[in-house]
Amino acid sequence: MAEVRLRRWRLEDAADVAVMANDEFFGPWSTMAADLDRWIRAEMAEEHGPTRAICLSDDDRALGRVALRPPDLASDAVRCQAVRESDQPAGELSYWLVPEARGRGLAYAAVRLMIETVVAGSGLRSVVLDIEDGNQPSIRLAERLGAERRSPSRVKADPAGTLRTLVVYVLRVA
Ligand SMILES: CC(C)(COP(=O)(O)OP(=O)(O)OC[C@H]1O[C@@H](n2cnc3c(N)ncnc32)[C@H](O)[C@@H]1OP(=O)(O)O)[C@@H](O)C(=O)NCCC(=O)NCCS
Repeated sequence: MAEVRLRRWRLEDAADVAVMANDEFFGPWSTMAADLDRWIRAEMAEEHGPTRAICLSDDDRALGRVALRPPDLASDAVRCQAVRESDQPAGELSYWLVPEARGRGLAYAAVRLMIETVVAGSGLRSVVLDIEDGNQPSIRLAERLGAERRSPSRVKADPAGTLRTLVVYVLRVA
C-alpha cells in the first residue's frame, strides 16, 4: 500500500484542492472560496504556521492538508475554558482531505506524521483540535488519535455569521 507523505505547498496544488472551498465543515471558515490564489500563496509562505500538503509515496498530487498553528497564531480555541493550564503551551492542529481521498485512513497517518516531524520539535505540550459538533468523521479521527474530548463546548459565529457549536479535543504531544 502507498504511504502517506507530507510536503510543502506549490502553486499548482490550488486546482487539486479547490473543491474544499465548498466543504461543509472547512469552507465556512476558510478564505479559499474568496481568493484561491491568495489562499495557496499564504500556505506556501506558511503565514499562519507550518502547513503541509498530504500526498502519497506514489502520487505527488495534493490530497489534503495538515497544519499547525503555534499559540500566538492560533484561534481562541487554545485559550478557551476547556483547555487546562497543564495543557499549555498548546497549538492548534487542523486537517482535511479532498472527498475522493477519504475513508482510507490517510488523515490518521498524515496527522501522526505531522506530529512526529513538525509538532515534536515545536516545544508544545499539546495540540487542540477544534471540531464542529456533528462532524462525525473528524470526531472519530480525534478519538482514534487518542485526543480527549473536553467541555464546555462553545458557540461561535463563522465569518458569514452562522452560529456553530465547537468542541475542543486535546491531544498531548509531550
Ligand atoms: C475529517 C476527515 C479528515 C477524516 O478523514 P478520514 O480519516 O478519511 O475519515 P474516514 O472517512 O475514514 O472516517 C473516519 C471515521 O468516521 C466515520 N465516519 C465517516 N463518515 C461518517 C458519518 N457521516 N457519520 C458517522 N461516522 C462517519 C468512519 O466510519 C470512520 O470511523 P472508524 O475510524 O470507526 O472506521 C475528512 O472527513 C475531512 O476532510 N472532512 C472535511 C474537513 C473537515 O471536517 N476537517 C476537520 C475539521 S475539524
